[in-house]
Amino acid sequence: MGGLIILFEMALYPRKLARRYKGFPQALWSPRLWLRLHVGLGLLCFPIIVIHAGYGFGGPLTRVTLILFLLTIVSGVWGLVVQQWLPQKLLNEYPEETVASQVDTVAGWYVGRRTGVGHTGGRDRSGEAYRLLDSLIQEPAEVGELLTPVGTAAGIDDSPEAGAAPLRYEPLVTGLPAQELEAFLIADLIPYLESGAASGSLLVTRAASERRFARLREKVPVDALPALDRLEVLAHLRRTLDDQVRINRWLHSWIPVHLLLSVAMTGLMLVHAIRALKYW
Ligand code: HEM
Ligand code: HEM
Repeated sequence: MGGLIILFEMALYPRKLARRYKGFPQALWSPRLWLRLHVGLGLLCFPIIVIHAGYGFGGPLTRVTLILFLLTIVSGVWGLVVQQWLPQKLLNEYPEETVASQVDTVAGWYVGRRTGVGHTGGRDRSGEAYRLLDSLIQEPAEVGELLTPVGTAAGIDDSPEAGAAPLRYEPLVTGLPAQELEAFLIADLIPYLESGAASGSLLVTRAASERRFARLREKVPVDALPALDRLEVLAHLRRTLDDQVRINRWLHSWIPVHLLLSVAMTGLMLVHAIRALKYW
C-alpha cells in the first residue's frame, strides 16, 4: 500500500506537465483534487511506511531510503505551509505584484530608458529620479515651476513698474547641499534603483534609508522637500519589488528539493522492494 501511494504521489509530476489536458471525467483531473489527494495520501503513507519498517532503519539501503522518505515528507509539509501562507502575505502587503523577472526593468524606468550604449547598456537620464534631481539642482529651462525668484521672499517689489532690477532665478538647492544630493543620487540611489540589493547600497534597509533621507532633508530648503520625499518613495518602491522577488523565491525554491528527494527515494524504494520480495 505504501509503495502504491508513493507511485501515486510521483504521478503529480507528469500530471503537472500535462496541466493543459482537461481529461475525462473532468472532475477527476482537477489540480485541486490532485493536490488534496497528494497531501492527504502523502501524510497517510508516513505511518504506513514507518510501521512497515518495524520502527527501525534496517540495513544501509533501507536506512537511506527511510531517511529520504522522511525528508520528502518534511519538505512537502514545509512547501505546503509556505504556499498557504506566502501568497496571502504577497496579496496583503504588495497588491501590485510584479513578475519577479521584470523587477529590474520596472525599477530601471525610474532611472531612464535603456540606450544600449557601452557594453553595460547604460540608461539615459529620462527617468523620474533624474528629473527630480534636475528640478532641484539645475537652473530651470523655463521660468515657472519650482523656481525661487531671488529677492521676492525678502519683500522686494519686482514689478516692472517699480523699476526693480531684473529677476534672477536660481535652482532650489545650490552649493554644497546640491553637490551632496547629486553625489548621493549617482553613487547610491541610482545604482540601488537599477540593481537593488546587488548594488551594495545601504538603502536596502528601511531604517538606513530613512536616516539618509532625514539627513538630506535637514540640508535643503522647505520647497525642495516634496521632491526629496518622492525620491524616498522611489527607494521604497525598489525595496518592495525586491521583497516580492524574495517571497517568490521562497514560494518556488522548495519544489526542486521536494522533487529531487522524492525521485531518489522512489528509486531506492523500488530497488529495496524488489530485493526484499525476492529474498523474503
Ligand atoms: C519508502 C518506502 C520504504 C521504506 C523507507 C522501507 C523501509 C524498510 C525498512 C527500514 C525495513 C526493515 C528492514 C530491516 O528491519 O532489516 C523494510 C522491510 C521490508 N520492506 Fe520496506 N520500505 C519501503 C517500501 C517497501 C515496499 C514498497 C515494499 C514492497 C512492495 C517493501 C517491502 C519490504 C519487505 C518485504 C520487508 C521485509 C524484508 C526484510 O525484513 O528484509 N518495502 N522496509
Ligand atoms: C512520499 C511522499 C511524497 C512524494 C513521493 C511526493 C512527490 C511529489 C512530486 C513528484 C511533486 C511534483 C513536483 C513538481 O511539480 O516538480 C510533488 C509536489 C507537491 N508535493 Fe509532494 N510528495 C510527497 C509527499 C508530500 C506531502 C506529505 C506533502 C504535504 C503535506 C506534499 C506537498 C506537495 C505539494 C504542495 C506539491 C505541489 C507543488 C506545486 O506544484 O505547487 N508532498 N510532490
